[in-house]
Amino acid sequence: MEFEVVFQPEGKHMKIPSGKTILEAAKIAGVDLISICGGLGKCGKCRVVIEKGSDKTNPLTSIERNFLSEAEIAAGYRLACQTIIRGPLVVWVPEESRTGKQRLQIEGIETPVKLEPYIKKYFIELPQPNLHDIRSDADRLLDELKKVYRLNNLKVDYNVLLQMPSILREGNWKVTVTVWNDKTIIDVDPGNTAKRIFGYAVDIGTTKIAGYLLDLNTGVVLAVDSLMNPQASYGEDVISRITYASYDQDKLKELQQAVIEGVNQVLKSLLDKTGVSPKEVYEMTVVGNTAMHHIFLGICPKYVALAPYAPAVKSGVDVKARKLGVNINPNGNVHVLPVIGGFVGADTVAVILATELYKREELCMALDIGTNTEVVLGNKNKILAVSCASGPAFEGAHIKYGMRAASGAIEKVQIDPKTLEVKYQTIDNIKPCGICGSAMVDVLAELLKTGIIDISGAFNKDIKSPRLRQSENGLEFVLAWKDETAIGKDITVTQKDIREIQLAKAAIHTGCTILMRKLGVKESDIDALFIAGAFGSYIDPKSARIIGMYPEIPLNKVRIVGNAAGTGARMALASKTIRRKAEEISRKVNYIELGAEPEFQAEFLNSHFLPYVDLTKYPETINMLKKLGIQIKEPPMILNMKA
Ligand code: FES
Repeated sequence: MEFEVVFQPEGKHMKIPSGKTILEAAKIAGVDLISICGGLGKCGKCRVVIEKGSDKTNPLTSIERNFLSEAEIAAGYRLACQTIIRGPLVVWVPEESRTGKQRLQIEGIETPVKLEPYIKKYFIELPQPNLHDIRSDADRLLDELKKVYRLNNLKVDYNVLLQMPSILREGNWKVTVTVWNDKTIIDVDPGNTAKRIFGYAVDIGTTKIAGYLLDLNTGVVLAVDSLMNPQASYGEDVISRITYASYDQDKLKELQQAVIEGVNQVLKSLLDKTGVSPKEVYEMTVVGNTAMHHIFLGICPKYVALAPYAPAVKSGVDVKARKLGVNINPNGNVHVLPVIGGFVGADTVAVILATELYKREELCMALDIGTNTEVVLGNKNKILAVSCASGPAFEGAHIKYGMRAASGAIEKVQIDPKTLEVKYQTIDNIKPCGICGSAMVDVLAELLKTGIIDISGAFNKDIKSPRLRQSENGLEFVLAWKDETAIGKDITVTQKDIREIQLAKAAIHTGCTILMRKLGVKESDIDALFIAGAFGSYIDPKSARIIGMYPEIPLNKVRIVGNAAGTGARMALASKTIRRKAEEISRKVNYIELGAEPEFQAEFLNSHFLPYVDLTKYPETINMLKKLGIQIKEPPMILNMKA
């Protein structure tokens, strides 16, 4: 049996089979609804209000009781992934549950490379066949390429053979030959098209896909664009995707198709902007974390998530575009860069390439902050890497009013130390509807600087301000009053929200500390800290340091490098040498499995303190707090510290 479900305010309606959840119905109807955990009942973000037909649904589940307050339940709120349709419904999707257009960072640092692409084009005039020269078309072409350009042992792609006889004659024996890696003829065009060689570099992130169209004759980036990864509707974190893709071959195929459609959509937009034809795009490079890498290639990612987290393949992979269904020249090559380990992927290899950490004398640290944060430490002699489960809190999950960095999100926060009044800035300067990760980092730093929380992260009950108040779940701090917001409710930060950010920052700090100990170095030995990734591009490095997300490295040594993974993908598209370097990096980087480190648990607990349990590691921050009049109680003890 099917029932009509209407989604407001969009007014979209659709007949939905009985027994489906509202989240599934929203997906079918193409309704914009957040589902950070992919419907597993773990994020609490898929809130909707049943306007009509609440008696035609299942009773509230314990998961919903966990996430929804009494007042919300009374107002008709449900979690879309928990609510089963058993009759016609009218469902309101509130502002805070809509995905909106997310701010996606696609620009990255520019690292110059010498242009030496895998693709080359050769214009050539062939002698016409006659009764005294009856060589085959292929032999005629290969002989001339050898004579004029000294190209030996070339092979001809089967698809090219199918077209070649007519193209040679159509071009009156004047043609342009496209050769991949000095080995294979992948295209033949009539006339001289030697100036038209393009390549497509793609960074497939868990959240977004960023694409770059390059002119491979000049190395110039002609256009850039990005898109939310269409796989997001299957769960916004990497583990949900791995779980889905591991069910069976069909589910894996479904996720692979979703990402390939996204990659094709970005490509189409780049081609539309530049007037380049898909046939003229002869090569593509791809970076992404190991799960994205596997799913893009159609390899089951199941074992990436199971100890000992072995990837199916570590070195770079070359596949014909036609096999994957990407809409560049079908004979073109898709090169997927090598990975380092199960949780440190080709995107980290690309960050190492872009920051040139692999060839620097000085010691560098790089953080690529996301749901999983990769930390890399080293220089040309040795490189160590870890992946830290920083979780989705920076994406807004598990935070009461958390949201992605989309329009209306509070993105920067300041608290006046005297009045405790709040100044905030929202994306697109509109009324706030939630708070994004970069602002949560500011909030913790500001709460600490004003003494509203102490270094353990607990609210200070002695603070007298209407903004610090008791709620049904403990103390909370009001960032924006109801009449200032777009959601008709106060936007607050709860004690639980603070704990979530502490967990995330502790994971990153633990990764940094363990790598430093492994390498036997101190904060003062680190000459540069690169912060990469979309989230990293918007955080205030000062706030991040105050809360101890990374070690106390002087701020003038911190560089925000934007989407460095995208830069690495472009470099690998433009240069054979860089591609070889990528292979070396993948083999050379020593991947440390954090969970297997004996000191991990203790260090993780130590890292929950703001900035850290051992205050002597943050002298500048502690001095600054003392100057602001903040009383700092020494943490009770230092747990199992080795250094
Ligand atoms: S709780 Fe419903 S999608 Fe996460």
